Amino acid sequence: MPTNAIKESCLLATEQHVKQLLAADTTGHDWWHIHRVRKLTLTLAKEEQADLFICEMAALLHDTVDDKLVADEKIAQTELLDWLFEQQLEENVVRQIMQIIADMSFKGGSNADKVLTLEGKVVQDADRIDALGAIGIARTMVYSGSKGRPMHLPNAQPRLNMTLAEYRNGEDTAIMHFYEKLLTLKDTMNTLTGKKLAEQRHLFLETYLEQFYAEWAGER
Ligand code: ADP
Ligand code: NI
Repeated sequence: MPTNAIKESCLLATEQHVKQLLAADTTGHDWWHIHRVRKLTLTLAKEEQADLFICEMAALLHDTVDDKLVADEKIAQTELLDWLFEQQLEENVVRQIMQIIADMSFKGGSNADKVLTLEGKVVQDADRIDALGAIGIARTMVYSGSKGRPMHLPNAQPRLNMTLAEYRNGEDTAIMHFYEKLLTLKDTMNTLTGKKLAEQRHLFLETYLEQFYAEWAGER
């Protein structure tokens, strides 16, 4: 493991590097998402007794090879690997960080059951938790707005526990994304600490939807 001084300077350099990479981004993967995932990752990592440095580095870098952000994921991975080796990090540390980022960027399919390391589990939970709660709702509204989608188009009877199939009304809306993704996230948590945080934020989503539907109906 690197010394504390190397860790410090490495984290600082990584922060600068990521800010630079994301500066040109127009897909909504902004620095403040990374900032929040980093903070949440540290909270989870302490509780779960995961390696703080590996977790923090992976949290900072987790979106830098995403195909939504870069033209070619393979090239981005090679560039990231080269960059990490320039930071005076040992090979096994670089490999651990790269592994987490690569595993996290798989979006299901044959890799859905990929076994993550403890550090990978922590960072993936933190990333998913940032899609929940008050922040998650705000991100959903901002994303939908950026795509020119409506906030909501009422079904006959919107209910909290509808499945996506029951909900779907043929058009993408911000509220539909709750059924498509947000309400399913709490059951995908890897760690106990992640589960607890996700459950609190999930309850907030349900409270929000209840209020939303009541306001839509002019009831409150
Ligand atoms: P990640 O940061 O994990 O890569 P995404 O790129 O999938 O997340 O999404 C970024 C944010 O935009 C998340 O908060 C997500 O819930 C939201 N979002 C993604 N797809 C949609 C959609 N179709 N409608 C509304 N919000 C979305
Ligand atoms: Ni992310």
